[in-house]
Amino acid sequence: MKKDLIALKTRALEDLKKINDISGLEEFRIKYLGKKGLLSAFMKNIGKLPPEQRPEIGKIANEIREKITTEYEGLKKRLQQKEKRERFIDVTLPGRRHERGHIHPITTVINEVCEIFSKMGFRIVTGPEIELDYYNFEALNIPKDHPARDMQDTFYITENLLLRTHTSPIQVRVMEVQKPPVAIICPGKVYRRDSDVSHTPMFHQVEGLLVDKSVTFGDLKGVLTLFVHKMFGKETKVRFRPSFFPFTEPSAEVDIQCVICKGKGCRTCGFTGWLEILGSGMVDPEVYKFVGYDQEEYTGFAFGMGIERIAMLKYGIEDIQLFYKNEMRFLGQFL
Ligand code: DAH
Repeated sequence: MKKDLIALKTRALEDLKKINDISGLEEFRIKYLGKKGLLSAFMKNIGKLPPEQRPEIGKIANEIREKITTEYEGLKKRLQQKEKRERFIDVTLPGRRHERGHIHPITTVINEVCEIFSKMGFRIVTGPEIELDYYNFEALNIPKDHPARDMQDTFYITENLLLRTHTSPIQVRVMEVQKPPVAIICPGKVYRRDSDVSHTPMFHQVEGLLVDKSVTFGDLKGVLTLFVHKMFGKETKVRFRPSFFPFTEPSAEVDIQCVICKGKGCRTCGFTGWLEILGSGMVDPEVYKFVGYDQEEYTGFAFGMGIERIAMLKYGIEDIQLFYKNEMRFLGQFL
């Protein structure tokens, strides 16, 4: 019986070593220390021994019970602590950070341009990106065989339907339904079959139109000069250079003093000291015929600019494709 007791002790202590969770430990307690457990069974048998053996075996059995109980209690404590540690939530730790979104630089520039003109009284209007040939070309005095159609590589959907190549068709749509005075600013996406460091097949333009009684080229100069000063700073020099557009007469392109070299001449401005930023002119009376305006009564001016170009000059970006690569290291600089 003594041997059996010692074997039981060895087995119990070995079992205990293999336990690594509370539920395993509870099984151990029931098996060895419980009322119907192995040790209790031994204790009961002690009474059946000859009286002279009872004290010795009884003493050994008690010692073993004590040893197993102490080891059991020790392990129980360690396991409970471990469980508590795992469940512990440190409320002083900082929370998980969420990436904060921000406005795309192109949207920022569109908003800035629209805000400047809004404050001068222009109303913001948009139009469809899928446009009729009539609005994109015909009513802007660009007939089917006109060479100006070659300047713009058009994505055609059908013979009469296309992706607009500029935001100018919005002028016609507005004049069709509204009598002067008209003062509108029209932001939007435009499409051309073109792709290199300064061209993407989709880009953004803002179109402007003002028609009323006795609007002059002086008004055009005043409004666009004020725009340049608000957009690029009061000290920026502006130049109006004669040009040609089928829907304006006379036409002018607007240059600003190079923002990089301040007019000294550099690679960005092709060593001229000037940068072209928009096209403009007095609305050609031919266009008024399409919308039923009386060309004796009304005059007006129009202008159009590429937003990507303005953004590149404002932020000093050399590759237009960067705007559309969704590269966070680039976009993250415009917070
Ligand atoms: N639509 C022209 C383009 O895409 C830009 C433009 C030039 C618009 C002169 C105008 C304008 O309204 O008067 O290149």
